[in-house]
Amino acid sequence: NNFCVIMAGGIGSRFWPLSRTAKPKQFLDILGTGRSFLQQTFDRFVKIIPPENFLVVTSVNYKDLVKEQLPELKDEQILLEPLRRNTAPCLAYAANKIRSRVDDANVIVTPSDHLIVKEEEFINQLKNALDISSEKDKLVTLGIKPSRPETGYGYIQVKKRKEFKELDNLYKVKTFTEKPNEEMATIFVESGEFYWNSGIFISSLHTILEAFQQHLTEIAIKFEKGRKLLNSSSEEPFIKKTYSECPSISIDYGIMEKATNVYVLTADFGWSDLGTWGSLYENKEKDLEGNLIGGDNILTYDTSNCIVDISRGKVAVIQGLDGYIVAESNDTLMICRREDEIQIKKFVTDVRIKK
Ligand code: GDD
Ligand code: MG
Repeated sequence: NNFCVIMAGGIGSRFWPLSRTAKPKQFLDILGTGRSFLQQTFDRFVKIIPPENFLVVTSVNYKDLVKEQLPELKDEQILLEPLRRNTAPCLAYAANKIRSRVDDANVIVTPSDHLIVKEEEFINQLKNALDISSEKDKLVTLGIKPSRPETGYGYIQVKKRKEFKELDNLYKVKTFTEKPNEEMATIFVESGEFYWNSGIFISSLHTILEAFQQHLTEIAIKFEKGRKLLNSSSEEPFIKKTYSECPSISIDYGIMEKATNVYVLTADFGWSDLGTWGSLYENKEKDLEGNLIGGDNILTYDTSNCIVDISRGKVAVIQGLDGYIVAESNDTLMICRREDEIQIKKFVTDVRIKK
């Protein structure tokens, strides 16, 4: 009884102008793989979740895009939001919709704007997370080892003491901090005690509804009151009214920062929530030579118009390059001409085959 809730109602503003309100990042095929981020998300999870147990929550404005991109879904699997209220109301809607169908279930909640390179490892960790969440009252998130003090992510501090014999990469969460400032993020990364929140979490339906009751009571009450209206002709007006009364808040601020039963499975599955290098370059501040530098130990000589992205603590010396992307993350290094970015598609496939 496993379900998958895909959240696909964001506007991907960080990747403007590539990702636009009319067609945000999740609907784009940024890497030129032939499948959009949303489709890739579906492809990934459909390996372990039956297609009829998917729910995509999105804005009414993207209804046609979702139908076009995921013809596998029936209309009732696409939940339409009249207003953007961030991810907490989105999950409350989906959880109550599932509850109107079944008493309990395991639920995977996932964003729709990510790249995952090592799919096999990813699926393995998901299976672990499903095992854990089906047994116990836990919110299990997937955590990624941070490589730079990125301020757009949630940071998870773990209790290093092993509490579980079953899995050596499962930790109880000590603190969860959504989008810290740069100073805090730097301290977090340097401490070695923190992981990035991938935004993907797994839990029993019961535990999710409990978390809403406890931490977002107002939202919980509204949706539960109208649960019997879901799947009837009253669903649309009920949702319209409820959304207009709901605060705009994310799951991260509303639940993860507060709940005491959050656990993290740390894993390395080649995760990235990135648009294109080109769009990143266009929208970020460059140095005088036109280099966009990410990293804290980079020395450049006679180098211009490059995008450099190197993990903190690593030293990089670059000489004589013009118009290149030099990107490194944990176990992968890519050096690619900026104008040939389109080929990243091929690199990703080839790396996937090799792994
Ligand atoms: N249905 C719906 N409605 N979906 C939404 C809404 C909404 O109002 N707002 C955002 N989403 C979707 C986005 O499309 C995306 O797939 C997902 O929910 C996460 O929203 P983002 O807006 O992309 O969140 P974020 O990237 O700033 O932060 C989250 O993801 C990070 C990792 O990428 C947090 O979970 C962070 O803790 C995490 O590190
Ligand atoms: Mg995001």
